[in-house]
Amino acid sequence: MCAVKADWKANQKLAAGKGATVQEFTASAGGARLEIDVAPWGEGHLKINGRQVAHVNDVKDRRQAFHELKKIADRYMEGQPVKPVLPAVKAKLLDGKKGLIVGIANENSIAWGCAKAFRAFGAELAVTYLNDKAKKYVQPLAEVLEASIVVPLDVNTPGQMEAVFERISEEWGKLDFVVHSIAFSPKDALHGRVVDVSREGFLTTMDVSCWTFIRMAHLAEPLMRKGGALFTMTYYGSQRVVKNYNIMGVAKAALEGAVRYLAAELGPKGIRVHAISPGPLATRAASGIPEFDALLAKAEAKAPARRLVSIDDVGVATAFLAHDAARLMTGETLYIDGGYHVID
Ligand SMILES: NC(=O)c1ccc[n+]([C@@H]2O[C@H](COP(=O)([O-])OP(=O)(O)OC[C@H]3O[C@@H](n4cnc5c(N)ncnc54)[C@H](O)[C@@H]3O)[C@@H](O)[C@H]2O)c1
Repeated sequence: MCAVKADWKANQKLAAGKGATVQEFTASAGGARLEIDVAPWGEGHLKINGRQVAHVNDVKDRRQAFHELKKIADRYMEGQPVKPVLPAVKAKLLDGKKGLIVGIANENSIAWGCAKAFRAFGAELAVTYLNDKAKKYVQPLAEVLEASIVVPLDVNTPGQMEAVFERISEEWGKLDFVVHSIAFSPKDALHGRVVDVSREGFLTTMDVSCWTFIRMAHLAEPLMRKGGALFTMTYYGSQRVVKNYNIMGVAKAALEGAVRYLAAELGPKGIRVHAISPGPLATRAASGIPEFDALLAKAEAKAPARRLVSIDDVGVATAFLAHDAARLMTGETLYIDGGYHVID
């Protein structure tokens, strides 16, 4: 990235000056959208293209917080790497809880957004990586999370799912939550019409994207003796025909159905089950969907919030649902999409 100067502007809609609470500043530089928010007690966050990349919570006041975050933004604009950080959260609402996060491929993954939020709220994490090739991207993120269990998991490899849960059983003896954030469809199946899908393409899509969640619930059940929460990621293409989503829409419809049945079966044991339905996010999985940019543009223009969601938005909302305060919510498909799904 070339060195470009960011041109910071305050959000005029928010109160400024003494007594004002949070202030927001935005800038665009080199094609990137930069956002800084700062609070009077010396806490602040820097987001680049909607993703939080830095925070401060130990400086004197708002002015110093802005100064520190601006320095990090400048370094980013000069092309220097910015180490991933966890969001700054004071209340450790998930302290003492232990959970498994499946589906971190890189810093753009929805699973990474969830992992950051769960960890920031104080939970202890186990994370998986697909294979040796993926390990070099996942390992540094697992270190940021201080994950105590980091194990391989390719759901196509017989016995690997069982091995993950055995390791958790040996090490923790219990489990409070699971985030299942994986999906796969062979290119031929995903890119073709649903009416043409081969049996093999259909079965692979359903197997990885739906059955593995059912199996993880089965393996988690004996470890959730005091209750727990199971989450899987779905998409609006399960409810309406979304151009190019094709067979994955069918798999997500099955997944949402599975969530309701699992919620009914496991509810008496205090285990809650939810599908989380984020709006479109530019991740590696999304890059397999043709014309994804058009989907992003439509989501931003049509959603009541008029903005795209970030993996951090998905993460904190999911972490809230793992909290005991959400104990009477189960079986839901919860949309984190700026309200897109309510608009005609
Ligand atoms: N990106 C979006 O717009 C969007 C929107 C709604 C829902 N989702 C869903 O979110 C979930 C996560 O996807 P993402 O967008 O973060 O993309 P991603 O590419 O970052 O994550 C997909 C993950 O699936 C894993 N995976 C694929 N095959 C696997 C296998 N055989 N064994 C184990 N893991 C396997 C990959 O390793 C990767 O970690 C998926 O279920 C996806 O359908 C994505």
